[in-house]
Amino acid sequence: MDEAIARYPKDHRRSATMPLLHLWQEHFGFIGHEAVFWIAEKLGLQPINILEVVTFYPMFRQHPAGKTHIRICRTLSCAMAGGLEVMENLCASLGIKRPNDGEETNNPIAVSADGNYSVEFVECLASCHTAPVCMIGEQLHEKVDPNSAADFFRNRQSVIGDPKLAWPPHPLEHRLVYKNIGRPGWTSDIDCYLRDGGYEQLKQALTLSRDDIVNKVKNSGLRGRGGAGFSCGLKWSFIKPDEKRPVYLICNADESEPGTFKDRYIIHEDPHQLLEGMLISCYALGAHTAYIYIRGEFPEGANILERAIEDARQHNFLGKDILGSGFDVEFYIHRGAGAYICGEETGLIESLEGKRGYPRIKPPYFPAVLGLYMCPTIVNNVETLCNIKHIIAMGGAEYARLGRPNNTGTRVLCVSGDVQRPGYFEVEVGAVTMGQLIYEMAGGLRPGRKLKAVIPGGSSAKVLRADERFKIKERQTDGSTSEREIAIDDIAMDFDSLAAAGSMAGSGGVIVLDDSRDMVWALNNLNKFYAHESCGQCTPCREGSLWMQKITDRMLRGGGVVEDPKTLKTIGDNIAGRTICAFGEACAWPTQSFVEKFPEEFAARARKPIPPPLPPEYTSEELIEEESIPTVPMAHDPGWEKAGAKGTI
Ligand SMILES: Cc1cc2nc3c(=O)[nH]c(=O)nc-3n(C[C@H](O)[C@H](O)[C@H](O)COP(=O)(O)O)c2cc1C
Ligand code: SF4
Ligand code: FES
Repeated sequence: MDEAIARYPKDHRRSATMPLLHLWQEHFGFIGHEAVFWIAEKLGLQPINILEVVTFYPMFRQHPAGKTHIRICRTLSCAMAGGLEVMENLCASLGIKRPNDGEETNNPIAVSADGNYSVEFVECLASCHTAPVCMIGEQLHEKVDPNSAADFFRNRQSVIGDPKLAWPPHPLEHRLVYKNIGRPGWTSDIDCYLRDGGYEQLKQALTLSRDDIVNKVKNSGLRGRGGAGFSCGLKWSFIKPDEKRPVYLICNADESEPGTFKDRYIIHEDPHQLLEGMLISCYALGAHTAYIYIRGEFPEGANILERAIEDARQHNFLGKDILGSGFDVEFYIHRGAGAYICGEETGLIESLEGKRGYPRIKPPYFPAVLGLYMCPTIVNNVETLCNIKHIIAMGGAEYARLGRPNNTGTRVLCVSGDVQRPGYFEVEVGAVTMGQLIYEMAGGLRPGRKLKAVIPGGSSAKVLRADERFKIKERQTDGSTSEREIAIDDIAMDFDSLAAAGSMAGSGGVIVLDDSRDMVWALNNLNKFYAHESCGQCTPCREGSLWMQKITDRMLRGGGVVEDPKTLKTIGDNIAGRTICAFGEACAWPTQSFVEKFPEEFAARARKPIPPPLPPEYTSEELIEEESIPTVPMAHDPGWEKAGAKGTI
């Protein structure tokens, strides 16, 4: 425990809250009152500071689970592949009775009578291409057959990174960051990495000035791969070269956007590539401490990174005076605990400070101004940071020749859902179209099926309908712009083209739905995810996400009323743009776009003529039991008289 505390600055011991809770839970199985008081005392905090963390993060539990705890993914790609049936069949074979929908939020874990097993639905485990997946204890299990849940327990094997999926790369791929992922003979240890020319770019970078590196990154045109697609070089340039306060780098390895499963493979199979990218970044930014915030559901990834950090330290790539350059830098791993919102960079920073993952109010708009411990902080995604090494190797201008103007380099696209060969594909940004990606790279749809819809950039991206026509503006060589109408298959897989088509490239997670899918069911699945994951700070998001879920739930159960599609849209419209963080948009966009693009399916589920009660769970009679609401005299304030108030409500 003392070692965990020592990873954070002395005056920020609170940051050790989550590591200590993880350690306690690993040892005792759950976090009771004793733990809360003990950890509070150890860190010099109030018990409430610990309790609020325990109750926020889904992975921390206040009651014991079974001896073997099973987490089953319930999010869209897994649900489409039978994840819900896995849970049903597993419970039947283990004799477990699960709580009903209403009770599940407060009581998500169901334990078998003998205490040997417990089950829990969890959100996307970042392995959507091998759906349905679950975790047994700390191990991920992929492609679980819903029909043989009991056999699967007797013969369980973890197969993360099935090489058959990864090698050889598709001819349309251009592998840079994924060059070694799944390569026969490739191992994740430092010797293999060094034999392949590893850490040469770090040596090269240490001979350059910090400005040179930042300029190379600017010239490369690299845009963040975490979701927002913000210019990496521009973000870095917010750090003042003569900054007196400590500067921090945080690697965002939270990878929790449903449909996205690229960062885990980098961590598992090429961890030194990430460390080298981070080392160059720290040197360029003048950061002497970096944290890798890795999602709690990646325990194996956290161990691999710990080992890789130790190996890099042995070779003096990390620590004091690295490679005799006079530059000191330390890396630490910080594990999350199951909250999607900790992928949002300011929620992540709060979480790293040992608090609930509540996104911060803006301004300041960037953690580069005020971030971790109120110091300048750069948060970058795993894939973004790996690209830094390649920018040093190639030079910024050469890197910018990959891809398209304003959409440079390569990126990893993750394809899941109704395709024959789901998986990851690294392509030059914009070099393949949606049609090529789905039909040539991912093997097309199942026999006899037609494309119905695509969610192109993680579950938060607006859905595209297969028979839509998209108006795309194109810049001509003479500087003028022209407009062209294209089909979904012709959309180039880049930031600007997907934005022009009314959606976004986001995190690169492409979820494909065929004509067997019920769009109300699909939206309800996503609505459940967002209702579960809203941090609850903003009323529109906290209440709206739940209302949207309850309405689509009602529609699925046959209780939809004619106003429901309109109500859904109104709720979405009143969330987007009215919240502290971009989760507001992320949860509104699926509802807004599904209802707009598939009106016939929503109308078919909304036939009842009764006006919808609002909020959906109450009727107006239940809401107001009293005929009149008594008024309460309020304390006297002379200001009210001026304002004409009567002093009562
Ligand atoms: C709700 C929400 C969840 C997010 N989840 C992730 C995530 O899991 N991983 C990630 O890298 N970025 C995520 N982001 C984006 C981060 O806030 C941030 O923009 C990103 O880490 C910056 O890195 P980049 O510039 O390299 O993309 C999320 C954003 C939001 C609003
Ligand atoms: S928008 Fe939602 S997730 Fe973001 S701060 Fe508000 S309540 Fe939390
Ligand atoms: S791993 Fe289940 S939906 Fe992503």
